[in-house]
Amino acid sequence: MGLRRIGLIFWIYFLDGLLLSMASNIGQNYTFVLREKKFTRLCTTKHMLTVNGMFPGPTIHVRKGQTAFITVHNEGNYGVTIHWHGVKQPRNPWSDGPENITQCPIQPGKSFTYEVIFSTEEGTLWWHAHSDWSRATVHGPIIILPPIGKTYPFPKPHAEQTIILGSWFNGDVKELIDEALATGGDPNISDAFTINGWPGALYNCSNETIYNLVVRHGKTYLLRVVNAVMNEEMFFAIAEHKLTVVAQDASYIKPITTDYIMIAPGQTMDILLAAKRSPSHYYMFSRPFFDSNAAFDNTTTSAILRYGGNYIAPSNPLPNTIVCLNSSCDGPDGNRLAASLNNVSFEIPSIDILQAYYRSLSGVYTTDFPIRPPYFFNFTGAVGNNTLHPSIGTKVKMINYGEAVEIIFQGTNVLTPENHPMHLHGFSFYNIGNGFGNFDEKTSPATYNLVDPPEVNTIGVPKNGWVAIRFFADNPGKL
Ligand SMILES: *[C@@H]1O[C@H](CO)[C@@H](O)[C@H](O)[C@H]1NC(C)=O
Ligand SMILES: *[C@@H]1O[C@H](CO)[C@@H](O)[C@H](O)[C@H]1NC(C)=O
Ligand SMILES: *[C@@H]1O[C@H](CO)[C@@H](O)[C@H](O)[C@H]1NC(C)=O
Ligand SMILES: *[C@@H]1O[C@H](CO)[C@@H](O)[C@H](O)[C@H]1NC(C)=O
Ligand SMILES: *[C@@H]1O[C@H](CO)[C@@H](O)[C@H](O)[C@H]1NC(C)=O
Ligand SMILES: *[C@@H]1O[C@H](CO)[C@@H](O)[C@H](O)[C@H]1NC(C)=O
Ligand SMILES: *[C@@H]1O[C@H](CO)[C@@H](O)[C@H](O)[C@H]1NC(C)=O
Ligand SMILES: *[C@@H]1O[C@H](CO)[C@@H](O)[C@H](O)[C@H]1NC(C)=O
Ligand SMILES: *[C@@H]1O[C@H](CO)[C@@H](O)[C@H](O)[C@H]1NC(C)=O
Ligand SMILES: *[C@@H]1O[C@H](CO)[C@@H](O)[C@H](O)[C@H]1NC(C)=O
Repeated sequence: MGLRRIGLIFWIYFLDGLLLSMASNIGQNYTFVLREKKFTRLCTTKHMLTVNGMFPGPTIHVRKGQTAFITVHNEGNYGVTIHWHGVKQPRNPWSDGPENITQCPIQPGKSFTYEVIFSTEEGTLWWHAHSDWSRATVHGPIIILPPIGKTYPFPKPHAEQTIILGSWFNGDVKELIDEALATGGDPNISDAFTINGWPGALYNCSNETIYNLVVRHGKTYLLRVVNAVMNEEMFFAIAEHKLTVVAQDASYIKPITTDYIMIAPGQTMDILLAAKRSPSHYYMFSRPFFDSNAAFDNTTTSAILRYGGNYIAPSNPLPNTIVCLNSSCDGPDGNRLAASLNNVSFEIPSIDILQAYYRSLSGVYTTDFPIRPPYFFNFTGAVGNNTLHPSIGTKVKMINYGEAVEIIFQGTNVLTPENHPMHLHGFSFYNIGNGFGNFDEKTSPATYNLVDPPEVNTIGVPKNGWVAIRFFADNPGKL
């Protein structure tokens, strides 16, 4: 999602395929006005791009299978697009959003109406700008309720609340990414993380700026957690409370009860919270998991879970000791840092790829994306200079309609290995396997879960490890 030092390698296998289709009906329509607005956090005031002046932005509510029309008016200073993260959008790629992949940016003074087609998704997703780093401030939740007459596959919660984890930069995010692209180095790290837009109690100059969730004793709440942080996987926990995860990426899972979650950027989780501890104030904390040796924001954002009713509240909310696993031109050789897949570093074209495809424009992309790593080295061992200087290109892999596809994402030890999220547009996929070290074509497939794998749209590839996913290529485009 961001600009990071990471090498990934992948394989694609084709299996036998099937298809599915879905009827849709019209849901609510929304108007998004993109404009700069003044915000103050950490005693720093800046103008930043927002939707309707909100940070985080407005919530989209739909029911499963509906279609929402979202008209975006750009009153900002530069071109922006919006992506509906995790919405499969059957046969509707023109409304997916990635800048110069499926559309040109919406220019200042212009408008564009997205037709967002929901099909099998149910639960929580999110939307965000898909132009440079504008998603840092331009994002918000998508809540997909069951169809009318249907209920959740768990007892109806007393109430629901969205919890959005975000990043706060004291500087301007556009300047920040422009600076990084110009120098070839890593962008500045964030100054704080936020919960529903507020950094919380543990930062300097951040008093009065903490999000409070008020609950009633004995009731159960559905928390819809979105990781909208720019780069870091985040831990999230609530002091003395268990979390029961019931869905991930708008797909139900077998419930898992845990003290804390780790959530990758782009992922969403639906969590049941039973408010059954002694009435008091409890801290919620979120801090990053980070296993790379690049610089990162190691701060902790907080919010308060506050029981309603009459009781003497402690002067400080009860803390939680958030569990942290062992964490352990400025680019190489005076060059630029670049991410690559199969030794190809993607170059964003100036004409969007979808348009080039439908209008048969040549010279925008080539169809020779390699299906296997061009050169097998010990990906997770002593990698030498392999893929440090990848080739650059706008390469695509064409896939036939109906094919079942398996992709192995192999993290590499090139430069600074790290846990890194991968996200697929237009599909959810089954997470069928993962492991540390190199994927072994002979032995690793035997470890796959082909019985009840979770269906997700974003997955963290472990540091120096691999993930195997499968999906059906059942979502072709449309003229
Ligand atoms: C939403 O917009 C679509 C397309 O413009 C229109 O057909 C539909 O009637 C609108 N729905 C509502 C509820 O306004
Ligand atoms: C990034 O950090 C450097 C060093 O602290 C600072 O000089 C620069 O202004 C920062 N850039 C932005 C866009 O905030
Ligand atoms: C808060 O300010 C103090 C004193 O300037 C500094 O030592 C500390 O690192 C700051 N803490 C954070 C989280 O920025
Ligand atoms: C926070 O606390 C400091 C010191 O007590 C005070 O000066 C300041 O006005 C308070 N408010 C904000 C928003 O920083
Ligand atoms: C965060 O990083 C800074 C700078 O590397 C370091 O000084 C500080 O001790 C770290 N804090 C925590 C809580 O790890
Ligand atoms: C992680 O930390 C635990 C407890 O400190 C230790 O027992 C374990 O060996 C560590 N694991 C790794 C992979 O470093
Ligand atoms: C997209 O293309 C336009 C020209 O059509 C260009 O100005 C813009 O920089 C491109 N965006 C990216 C992210 O490369
Ligand atoms: C790859 O490198 C790892 C880590 O150094 C090592 O444990 C492993 O044996 C190597 N594998 C091969 C096939 O050389
Ligand atoms: C990697 O490349 C650099 C310069 O490009 C060279 O100095 C260094 O010896 C190379 N390292 C290896 C292990 O090949
Ligand atoms: C990657 O591509 C570059 C540029 O074509 C080439 O020099 C390099 O050898 C390739 N590396 C690997 C590991 O395939």
